[in-house]
Amino acid sequence: MTQDKLKQAVAISAIDYVIDGEIIGVGTGSTANFFIDELGKIKHRIKGAVASSEATAARLASHGIPVYDLNEVTEIAVYIDGADEINAAGHMIKGGGAALTREKIVASVAKQFVCIADGSKLVETLGKFPLPVEVLPMARNAVMRQLAALGGQPKVRTKAGSEEIFVTDNGGNIIDVSGLVITDPVALETRINQIVGVVAVGLFAARGANVCLLGTPDGVRTVKY
Ligand code: 5RP
Repeated sequence: MTQDKLKQAVAISAIDYVIDGEIIGVGTGSTANFFIDELGKIKHRIKGAVASSEATAARLASHGIPVYDLNEVTEIAVYIDGADEINAAGHMIKGGGAALTREKIVASVAKQFVCIADGSKLVETLGKFPLPVEVLPMARNAVMRQLAALGGQPKVRTKAGSEEIFVTDNGGNIIDVSGLVITDPVALETRINQIVGVVAVGLFAARGANVCLLGTPDGVRTVKY
């Protein structure tokens, strides 16, 4: 089975977590895109969605799903999103798609975080996937020095196939930190959050997933935390 088929299978399963009449928080990335396409098929059952990126907002709107600004919403029943890595405790690395800050904000308002991922995302120890950190542009080099002091190899993200520095939906830049072996995700998340100039770190550990739907060749595995 292809990785895309596994992503589609978990996206279909995630529809079971959608609560009728509610506003759904929606993540960003290829797995989230499969989910949005499934959500489009049952859009009459929901009130609308809060998007974690401009790309997700555009895809939701293309399906005719009402997109709410987070400021209009006091409660989100469920947030559904992919991950770059997830461990046995439901801690995740996210931000491969550069939407980590908005993803973290929308997830923080949600009662339940449902992670949808193909089985390759399940890891014993987080850190093989370079950890994304969003920073204010003026703090880029200062933050990189501090991330290097934590033992990682930081690199500024550039636009695909170009030397131009990538700019997020928020006007920030992304530093991808490789070489970290993250044995205490909550502690590292807290530590990086304390670096001045950091907007958000792509470690979702203090608020991890409540459920993960993992796509495997034998079917969708549900893991609860
Ligand atoms: C975007 C994310 C995505 O959830 C993560 O990168 C996984 O993406 P995909 O579903 O394409 O594998 O955090 O910022």
